[in-house]
Amino acid sequence: MQREVTEGLAGDLKVAPLGVGAWAWGTSRLWGYGQEYGRREVGDAFRASMAEGVTLFDTAEIYGNGASERIIGEVLREGGFDGTPVIATKFAPLPYRLSPRSLISAVDRSLERLGVSTIDLYQIHFPSPLPRAMGLMDALAEVVREGKVRQVGVSNYGAEQMRRAHDRLASHGVRLASNQVRYSLLDRASETNGVLDACRDLDITLIAYSPIAQGLLTGKYGPGTKPSGIMRRFGRAFGEQNLRKVEPVVQILREIGEAHAKEPTQVALNWLMGQGTLPIPGAKNERQARQNAGALGWSLSEDEKEKLDLATLGWR
Ligand SMILES: NC(=O)c1ccc[n+]([C@@H]2O[C@H](COP(=O)([O-])OP(=O)(O)OC[C@H]3O[C@@H](n4cnc5c(N)ncnc54)[C@H](OP(=O)(O)O)[C@@H]3O)[C@@H](O)[C@H]2O)c1
Repeated sequence: MQREVTEGLAGDLKVAPLGVGAWAWGTSRLWGYGQEYGRREVGDAFRASMAEGVTLFDTAEIYGNGASERIIGEVLREGGFDGTPVIATKFAPLPYRLSPRSLISAVDRSLERLGVSTIDLYQIHFPSPLPRAMGLMDALAEVVREGKVRQVGVSNYGAEQMRRAHDRLASHGVRLASNQVRYSLLDRASETNGVLDACRDLDITLIAYSPIAQGLLTGKYGPGTKPSGIMRRFGRAFGEQNLRKVEPVVQILREIGEAHAKEPTQVALNWLMGQGTLPIPGAKNERQARQNAGALGWSLSEDEKEKLDLATLGWR
């Protein structure tokens, strides 16, 4: 079994080292919600994840302009699952909403859309360059004190920004639980920019977003294939030449997967868990949710990890 990250998320948040990203839930223009898949499919993805023991769902107030949070709220009310879901959402620190009051009222609106009385993990979506943004840490401490939020995190923070946030929260006796950053075999910058080391040093969970490189690591794209979802919008910019660079990595994922009776996606996610991080692959339907959950409960060998490491050094 992979390292348990329940302690990383601290206190009463018990989760498997894998979650589900809900950006695509309710986001039409970018992801094709309402055309290629819809409300029923994402509800099924939620329930299938819960049935597989994957209980952490990551959303944000800006996903689908509140639609993702509202959908999660509806699914929570519908039920049809056992266990307790753990909901993570995010605050967007735009320049005109850096006051503590802005964050506190944003928490209230997220609580309303989600239909819950407490948000399990509340994250600052991205860092703001404005010095007064540090006051948001004080506001985070405040919402924890008020019991509206259980744990707090940041996202897209560099190592130094993360340390500063950690220290400011610590001055209130609040722990920084997580930093959510892009991390996959095709984006290993966290290993060289100090973020992964800082997370390990400070015992902060690195939540890995876009962990299957928005579908590229699933092996479903190759020269001539028709991209789906977000890849249809941006895939052309990614280009055939880059697809050819990804192909050898997918090939290794396939070979390793065969030895474990696993799919490339599951191998790519398992590699991230082996790095001590918590990946949150997006899932649009039950099939994707179940397949992603198959990354749990087994481990790559050291040789296999080394093979993947060597094949993707160029993405560090
Ligand atoms: N904090 C931030 O700034 C930030 C930024 C980005 C994402 N995130 C979070 O991270 C989550 C995941 O990132 P992401 O959605 O960008 O990328 P991702 O998880 O790497 O890719 C998700 C997409 O891959 C496809 N997919 C998923 N599972 C699959 C499977 N088993 N087989 C085949 N295709 C599969 C689906 O799209 P198709 O079916 O269309 O291919 C899915 O929407 C988001 O939902 C969000 O919660 C956070």
